[in-house]
Amino acid sequence: MPQVWYGVHGRGTVGEGVLTSGFSRVDGTLSCEGVSLERIAEEVGTPAYVYSSSVVRDRYQRLDAALANIPHRIHYTLKANSNRGILAVLHELGAGVDVVSGGELFRAKRAGFAGSDILFGGVGKSQAELKEALQAGVRMINVESASEVRMINDIAGELGLVAPIGIRVNPEVTVDSSHKYIKTGEKGAKFGVPFDEVPGVAMLVAVLPNTRLIALDMHIGSQLFRLDGYVDGTNRLLELIAQIGEAGISTLEYLDIGGGLGVAYDDEKSPDLDAFAAALAERVTPTGLTMLMEPGRFIVGNCGVLLTRVLYRKHSGGRDFLVTDAGMTELIRPSHYDAYHRIERVRATESRMTADVVGPVCESGDFLALDRTMDEAGPGDLLAVYDVGAYGYVMASNYNSRPRGVEVLVDGDRFAITNERERYEDLVRLEQADPQWRDG
Ligand SMILES: Cc1ncc(COP(=O)(O)O)c(C=O)c1O
Repeated sequence: MPQVWYGVHGRGTVGEGVLTSGFSRVDGTLSCEGVSLERIAEEVGTPAYVYSSSVVRDRYQRLDAALANIPHRIHYTLKANSNRGILAVLHELGAGVDVVSGGELFRAKRAGFAGSDILFGGVGKSQAELKEALQAGVRMINVESASEVRMINDIAGELGLVAPIGIRVNPEVTVDSSHKYIKTGEKGAKFGVPFDEVPGVAMLVAVLPNTRLIALDMHIGSQLFRLDGYVDGTNRLLELIAQIGEAGISTLEYLDIGGGLGVAYDDEKSPDLDAFAAALAERVTPTGLTMLMEPGRFIVGNCGVLLTRVLYRKHSGGRDFLVTDAGMTELIRPSHYDAYHRIERVRATESRMTADVVGPVCESGDFLALDRTMDEAGPGDLLAVYDVGAYGYVMASNYNSRPRGVEVLVDGDRFAITNERERYEDLVRLEQADPQWRDG
């Protein structure tokens, strides 16, 4: 098996043509498309997540075009970023979505996606969530165990429906991802049906009266830079498709290869979409199935910055610290995944410093960057933390009772708040000042 590496272009290009970056300097000051980040910060305050709609459009259209020779549907994964404004951009482009909870299903429907636009997945769907998905008429539910199949069959029976089922297969392939928490398709992972058990689960779906097998699915990991995992995983799915066919099941319509395409945060090589598409076309086209894809990070990872203001600068134990008004509560990726995010001062400077950029949260693990050589900055300066479009706001928390920041979408020369900054009242909205005691 040749080891095909993604792209050779580094940050800035993917396959043919320059990637839309969305962020550039105008007279030394960073702008998102046609809007100055200083202006946005003045208007909405910090911390603020600022998203470029043209980056979202660029990545979706680029992927869609690369897959043009394969019958396919792109279902954007809400878990990466479920901002209403971003969903509106993708809806307008004709994307479908992939959701993993009742909450994401609710958001997708509110954003205008029809049931047939929605795939429903997740390792631990509750009975209530499955019922909501079936009532919404989702295109498919990706199941992860035989017991889930039985539960769906019962619920679908009560609703008088036949549930469209995809089986999420654990293809048990090795992937080369940046962190162990984002590998999901190796032997022993909690996700998916173990490879050897898939034919049995397929037969179960086929014989139960209220389920119909329409897809095999995999999702092998995230932030992937090599084709091998997709090629190996798809080959494994093809083996199963052959076995299932031999067992007399002929209802398959889709082969779902999941998400996982990597993006550049630093100097990683961007995916060569043409090589990716060619490798998949060779395998998927002969099956006559429609390929589904569930990208998250690839679509939105590079579309956003987190704007944060430096509160204090201090020196301790021989190190310089910049204390910012954003931290792990706004972006947990540095502390949770050891992730690198580029940081620049919004107003350009030639001076450099080496610092730990830390947040205001009472945790030693609260940092945005450690020992980073970066633009010199001090109190009052505005910083842009790059590439927070995926797994940024969606993983934000209220720890230390910090209201979540505001989200802004830029489109050309205009911008809009698409999600207001939380207020203190939001933090206590569900609290019961006068608890209604019940007998135990
Ligand atoms: C089932 C499934 N599909 C798609 C995705 C999206 O992955 P990515 O953002 O790496 O494209 C994930 C992410 O964890 C996932 O679990």
